[in-house]
Amino acid sequence: MRLPMIAGNWKMHKSIKEGVAFVEAIKSDVADTDVEVLICAPYTLLQSLVKAAEGTNVKIGAQNMHYEDKGAFTGEVTADMLLEIGVTHVIIGHSERRQYYNETDETVNLKTLKALAKGLVPVVCVGETLEQREASETKAICKSQVEKAFSGISGDAAKTVVVAYEPIWAIGTGKTASSQDANDVIAYIREVLTALYGDEISEEIRIQYGGSVKPANVAEIMNESDIDGALVGGASLEPDSFVQLVNF
Ligand code: G3P
Repeated sequence: MRLPMIAGNWKMHKSIKEGVAFVEAIKSDVADTDVEVLICAPYTLLQSLVKAAEGTNVKIGAQNMHYEDKGAFTGEVTADMLLEIGVTHVIIGHSERRQYYNETDETVNLKTLKALAKGLVPVVCVGETLEQREASETKAICKSQVEKAFSGISGDAAKTVVVAYEPIWAIGTGKTASSQDANDVIAYIREVLTALYGDEISEEIRIQYGGSVKPANVAEIMNESDIDGALVGGASLEPDSFVQLVNF
C-alpha cells in the first residue's frame, strides 16, 4: 500500500516568522493523520521550519536544488546544503521552474539523480500545457517527461521518488482537472513506470495530483484509485485550509 502524501508548495510566500507560526498552528491538528505531511518552503525559511517541526510528523522540503556538488553557480544551493539543515525532500522540475528558469528534462533528470544519490526524496513534477491538452498530447508529454526524469535511475531508487502530475493549465487558475481525468492520466503515468521498472516497483511509486486542489475538492481527488496525494499551492498557505487538506 502506498502512503499518500499531502504536500504544500509555498512557492515565494512567507517570512520566517509566518512560516514558524504556521507550523506551530498546524502541528497538533495534523498529528493523527494517515498521510505523509510535507511543506516545501523558500530556502530562507527551511532551517527554522525544520526546527519548528522537530518531533512532529511534518516534513520540510525545498522547492529546487542544483545538480552539482559545488562550484561557481551564483544563487544556487546543493543537495548537501539542504541535508545539512535537516531538509528531507525537494521539488524538482516544477512547471514554474521549467517555464521561467530554463529547467529542462535534462536538468530535471540530473537533479533527480543527485537528490537520490544524496538521500533526499525528489518530488518530480510533470504535466502538459493547455495547448498540449487541446492537441490531445497530454499522455505523450507526460510519458516523455517521466521517461526522461527517470533516465538512469535504478528500480530501487525509483521506488522512493514521488511524481506530481500537475497540468499547467490547472495551476493557480481555479480550474481543476476532473478527478476522473486526473486519475486517468496518473494511471497512465503508472503504466509508463511499469514499462520502465515492472509492476512490483511501479506499484510502490507515489503519484500525486497538483493544480487548484483545495479543501472543497481534496476528498474527491483522494478517493480516486490511482491518486496518492496532492501537491498544493494556494490552498496550502493558510493553516486552517492546510489542516483540512491533510485531514480530508
Ligand atoms: O505545486 C503546486 C502547484 O503548482 C499548484 O498550485 O495554487 O493551483 O494549488 P495551486
